[in-house]
Amino acid sequence: MKVLVIGGGGREHALVWKLSQSPRVDKIYCAPGNAGISEIAECVDIRTDDAEALLDFVKYNWIDLTVVGPEAPLTAGIVDAFVKEDRRIFGPDKRGAQLEGSKIFAKDFMRKYGIPTAEYKTFSSYLQAGEYVRLKGAPIVVKADGLAAGKGVIVAGTVEEALEALKMIMKDRAFGDAGGRVLVEECLQGEEASFMVLTDGKTVVPLATSQDHKRIFDGDRGPNTGGMGAYSPAPVVTEALREEIMKDIIGPIMNGLSRERITFRGVIYVGIMVCDGRPYVLEFNVRFGDPEAQPILMRLNSDFFDLLKATAEGRLSEVVVRWKKESAVCVVLSSKGYPGPYEKGIPIRGLDSFRNDNNVMVFHGGTALNGGVVVTAGGRVLGVTALGTDIKAARDNAYQAVERIRFEGMHYRKDIGDKAINK
Ligand code: AMP
Ligand code: GLY
Repeated sequence: MKVLVIGGGGREHALVWKLSQSPRVDKIYCAPGNAGISEIAECVDIRTDDAEALLDFVKYNWIDLTVVGPEAPLTAGIVDAFVKEDRRIFGPDKRGAQLEGSKIFAKDFMRKYGIPTAEYKTFSSYLQAGEYVRLKGAPIVVKADGLAAGKGVIVAGTVEEALEALKMIMKDRAFGDAGGRVLVEECLQGEEASFMVLTDGKTVVPLATSQDHKRIFDGDRGPNTGGMGAYSPAPVVTEALREEIMKDIIGPIMNGLSRERITFRGVIYVGIMVCDGRPYVLEFNVRFGDPEAQPILMRLNSDFFDLLKATAEGRLSEVVVRWKKESAVCVVLSSKGYPGPYEKGIPIRGLDSFRNDNNVMVFHGGTALNGGVVVTAGGRVLGVTALGTDIKAARDNAYQAVERIRFEGMHYRKDIGDKAINK
C-alpha cells in the first residue's frame, strides 16, 4: 500500500515513522516533509494548503491512504475534496474541523451538548469586549475565534493585559480575520492533560493519555508555544477520571456530532483542565497533538496503518489497539528566540549517533538539508523522545540523548515530566 502524509513537523515525522513499521505499507510520501522524514519517506514539494495539487499527486501515484497532520488543510476542506473524488483520507471534513477552526463554534457546541467548560461570552465589538473584561476583572482569558498558529490565546493576569490582547486581536488584527470575533473566558486553575480519541463517527477508541508543556521556560513560565515537550501516560488522568471524561465529555461530543450530522473520521483531541478533580474542556483539536503524538506513537503496539485505514473507512470497530507498558518522554529542542523570531540554517551536530536505537527517536520538526548537512529550519527543531520503564526512566533516557545533540542557540526545558514524577 502507498501512503501520503501531509505536513512537515515533529508530529508528521512520528506518523511516518510509525506507519513505516507496518508490513502492509510499501511506500510513504510526505508533503512537504523535512530532513528526518526524508530518511524514511519520499518528500514531495507540495504545500500543505494546495489541496488540488495534493489530490492530483494522489491520483497520479495511486495512493491508497492520505493522512493529514496539521489543522489548516482540514479546516480548509481538504477531506471534502478527497471524499468527493472517492479518495481514502484520514481526517474530519470541513464541518467537523470547525471544532478546532472556530473557538466560538466549539464553545457553542459544548454549551449546546452539556460539555463541562469555562464560562464565556463572545464579542464582535471591541468596545463591548473591553467593557465585559472590566466588569469581570482578572485573571481572564481572551481568545481569537479562528486559527492563529497556537498564539491566539492570552491568559491575562491583569485587566490591562486582557485589554491589550483585545486590541492586538480585534484592532491590530495580529491574526487577520481570525480576530474578527473573540471569546472572553473564565480563567480555570488546575492541571492540564491531553486526551485524544480515534473515531470513525460510530466507534471511539481512546489513545494513551499525555501531558504537554506549553510555556517556553521551566516551571511553566514565559509565553505559550506549540509545545516544548510531552510525556505519556499522564498520571493526572486516573482510571476514575478517564471514565468521567469518556462519559461526560466524549459521549456528549459523539452525540453532538451525530445530531449535527457531522461524520467525523479522524482524531478528536480534547485539551482538558482538571480542576478539583473534575475535567473541563479548554479546547478541541481535530488532529494529533504535536508534540504529544511523539511519545504516544512510541508506545503504540498495534499496526498504525490498519488503525488509520479502518478509521477512514468507518471500520474502527474491527481493530484492537495495544500499548507498551513503558512510558515515553519527548523533549523539544528549539531555536534561540522561539516563540518569537529566530534564525534558520544553523547546522545540527550529533544526529548520526542515534541510528539503530529503538528506545530513543529523534523526531525532526523544523529541519532541512543544506548540501547534505542537517540544519535548523523552524522554531521547534527536534523532539528527542525516549521510552523507559516509568516516566522517570524515560525522562533520564531522553535527557541523556539530548546531551549528544548540539546546535548554536539550542534551547530546551529541563523539567519535562517532573510533574508526573513528583506525584
Ligand atoms: P487553547 O489553545 O484554547 O488550549 O489555549 C492554549 C492554552 O491556554 C491552554 O493549553 C491553557 O494553558 C491556556 N488556557 C486556555 N483556556 C484557558 C482557561 N479558560 N483558563 C485557563 N487557562 C486557559
Ligand atoms: N501540543 C498542543 C497541540 O498540538 O495543539
